[in-house]
Amino acid sequence: MGVTGGIAAYKSVQLVRLLVRDGHEVHVVPTADALRFVGLPTWEAISRNPVTTTVHEDVARVRHVALGQAADLVIVAPATANSLAKMAAGLADDLLGTTLLATTAPVVVAPAMHTEMWRHPATQHNIATLKSRGVHVVGPDDGALTGDDSGLGRMTEPEAILAAALAVVEDDGAAEGDAADDDAARPVVRRHDLMGLSVVVSAGGTREPIDPVRFIGNRSSGKQGVALAVAAAERGADVILIAAHVDAEVLADALAHPAVRIERAGTTDDLADAVQTAAVSADVVVMAAAVADYRVAGISDRKITKDSAESTTRTLELVENVDILAALCRQRRPGQLIVGFAAETPAEGESLAERARRKVLRKDADLLAANEVGWTQGFEADENALVIVDRAGDVVAEPHGTKREVAEAVWDAVLSIHTP
Ligand SMILES: Cc1cc2nc3c(=O)[nH]c(=O)nc-3n(C[C@H](O)[C@H](O)[C@H](O)COP(=O)(O)O)c2cc1C
Repeated sequence: MGVTGGIAAYKSVQLVRLLVRDGHEVHVVPTADALRFVGLPTWEAISRNPVTTTVHEDVARVRHVALGQAADLVIVAPATANSLAKMAAGLADDLLGTTLLATTAPVVVAPAMHTEMWRHPATQHNIATLKSRGVHVVGPDDGALTGDDSGLGRMTEPEAILAAALAVVEDDGAAEGDAADDDAARPVVRRHDLMGLSVVVSAGGTREPIDPVRFIGNRSSGKQGVALAVAAAERGADVILIAAHVDAEVLADALAHPAVRIERAGTTDDLADAVQTAAVSADVVVMAAAVADYRVAGISDRKITKDSAESTTRTLELVENVDILAALCRQRRPGQLIVGFAAETPAEGESLAERARRKVLRKDADLLAANEVGWTQGFEADENALVIVDRAGDVVAEPHGTKREVAEAVWDAVLSIHTP
């Protein structure tokens, strides 16, 4: 909870009280000026945690980044015009500034100032900048200001800030669950830990034409790829989703998300072109589409008919397609992460992890997520089970559940190896 130097700081005492009452662990980080309005002992007593404004205290615990890294949510209330400008510029000359830069948690600001200060183009520009970075702005409200003034600029009331702040957290339904379990009783926070990352996800299945009406395809529905794209967008990433033959119904969530741009691809060659173009500026590429290893040599311009057959069998000649994953890995920029997916049907006695290990080494991907497929498994289903291995072939996660749950685990694995 950041507090900056405005009269409304006294109202933030109530906000901290409400948060503590609701069982949240609250660390107050005031600016030096905030302490001219409400003193340090008040914040410590109300939050029940030590309070400091400076980065030079508690240095051994690297407090200047630790607080931000540990936070599930950051609220700045009141947010002065000065502090909003500092946030927009990314200044870090005090503990609040470093905390705000170190955090990947959602940030909620409650501006408070005189109407003229609020309306000033500089303040409005800073607010627009902060919003474009995903900062949630609550208020200000219209009403009595300091002195005799009245107008737009009054800080939103603590109860309303609390409600708005908690609206960015997701209730995991713990109220109906096991109340004795402390972790279950905590709200699950929508993390913005992919904020600032550009990711490319391929989804669906490519089709290789035989003639104008027929193709060789596969049963991939695109559900896993779409879940990966939407999960990344909700965690703050900018996403390009390259969809190969994915039904509109499956795409619906991605279509509705402003941070997901959708491109379509038909054949493996189309998908290769689209992925390679998008990958140029991507931090992470996830190849979840099921691509054809081969295409038909000499696609017929006209529908192949039975009449033209000279025997009861027919042979289609196939040519190998480009290996998109291996090509991406060869061309990857320093720091770029490439994640492959492999749908496997392991032989009896052979483990999925072993197949994943061999594949990751062959392709040189950073992570490889393998899933077992079969007539009733993997493709088209709403649930999935993955074995995720790293570059060395070691298993890093084995998530199972809905395709969305599995997608979250893939992004967790990506973050565990991502170095910005
Ligand atoms: C009595 C008083 C009330 C103030 N109230 C506000 C305010 O509500 N909003 C604001 O933006 N600045 C306000 N200021 C000005 C800030 O305190 C000043 O810009 C300060 O540098 C903010 O520092 P900080 O953002 O680091 O806390 C006020 C100043 C005084 C003396």
